[in-house]
Amino acid sequence: MAAKQTLEDIRVDGRTVLVRVDYNVPFRPGSVEISDDSRIAASLPTLRYLLERECRLIVCSHLGRPSGRVVEELRMAPVSARLAELLGVPIRQLDDCVGPEVMDAVNAMRAGDVVMLENLRFHAGEEANDMEFATALAMPADLYVNDAFGAAHRAHASTEGVARLLPAAAGFLMARELAMLGQALDEPRRPFAAIMGGAKVSDKIAVLESLAGKVDKLIIGGGMAATFFKAQGLPIGDSLVEDEWVPFARDFLLKAGETGLELLLPDDVVIANEFSVHADSRVVGVDGIPGGWRVMDVGPGTADALARAVGDCGTVLWNGPMGVFEWSNFSHGTVRLAEALSALGDATTVVGGGSTAEAVQSLGYAERMTHVSTGGGASLEFLEGRELPGVAALPDKE
Ligand code: 3PG
Repeated sequence: MAAKQTLEDIRVDGRTVLVRVDYNVPFRPGSVEISDDSRIAASLPTLRYLLERECRLIVCSHLGRPSGRVVEELRMAPVSARLAELLGVPIRQLDDCVGPEVMDAVNAMRAGDVVMLENLRFHAGEEANDMEFATALAMPADLYVNDAFGAAHRAHASTEGVARLLPAAAGFLMARELAMLGQALDEPRRPFAAIMGGAKVSDKIAVLESLAGKVDKLIIGGGMAATFFKAQGLPIGDSLVEDEWVPFARDFLLKAGETGLELLLPDDVVIANEFSVHADSRVVGVDGIPGGWRVMDVGPGTADALARAVGDCGTVLWNGPMGVFEWSNFSHGTVRLAEALSALGDATTVVGGGSTAEAVQSLGYAERMTHVSTGGGASLEFLEGRELPGVAALPDKE
């Protein structure tokens, strides 16, 4: 993929810039308190760069899935308040994202002022990538900067449509995400290992297929390993299994054997007698999962084997936790792996977004990885080798 034009490739001084960010952040249940502001923090270099160059900033994002109508709990106000704290400048929160109120507010802005538009998805035109809506969004600005890697897999008005209407460039976060994920995929220092986990194999089919041809070692853990156990004819008790994907798992194991790919599946697992933090748990070999019990984590023997397997790697890509890391009795595999990656010296360690990013952040290992992606679905689609519409719409570097 051709490199995209970034902020440093264009003149930005004094311009009025529409900056698309992905501030789709989680909140503590029932509150307006943001539980993880890393997506906001990750956008600061772009915003600071523009402010230092006397720009006027119109910041915009979606939040949640309001499906084209106003949902009070999904207003951007708590997000702009947090951004103002992190950026250290006042931010005016607007009540809409297009229309006369926005035009008046932008006309009144001076160099260095920042406004935040209301949730883009309050308008159906956003997700429909409606040109009229994109035109209204572009209207007050004379430059468009896309720093929303997390939303780049969506062909929406603010991620795709508007890039065709204004001079456009990738922000620093977008550029870094594309460089780090792209480099891991296309120019990895070898040995190159991918670690795949998470609950469901169905989410990871395309990425498994794409990575199998690129990596030297493939490690499979997390709940999805149970589908592979079933494909090997092992008893899986009450573990979550996607029966329709068992044939895929069987073929995948066969092909891996033929191509010489080093494929690591767990030898032992932590099982529980119910899906609960208070469940009884024990460690068993993968051939010893009794009826009524389910896989909750990789076992300690497997966790050590995984740590050894990544020990000589030059590049490691990690997508999906090894177990139910949110509960400490089932987090050992994920913690052990995060520890092992942190200790890898000069290897490149790239962590996919979504629940894997949440795991390394909440367990305190994020700073020690080379790159933790801010994109969940977007990083997965990128690793599948798919073109992201929000990236494709940006001009190539000259
Ligand atoms: C995300 O959180 O992955 C992005 O913001 C995209 O959100 P969406 O899945 O609602 O489009």
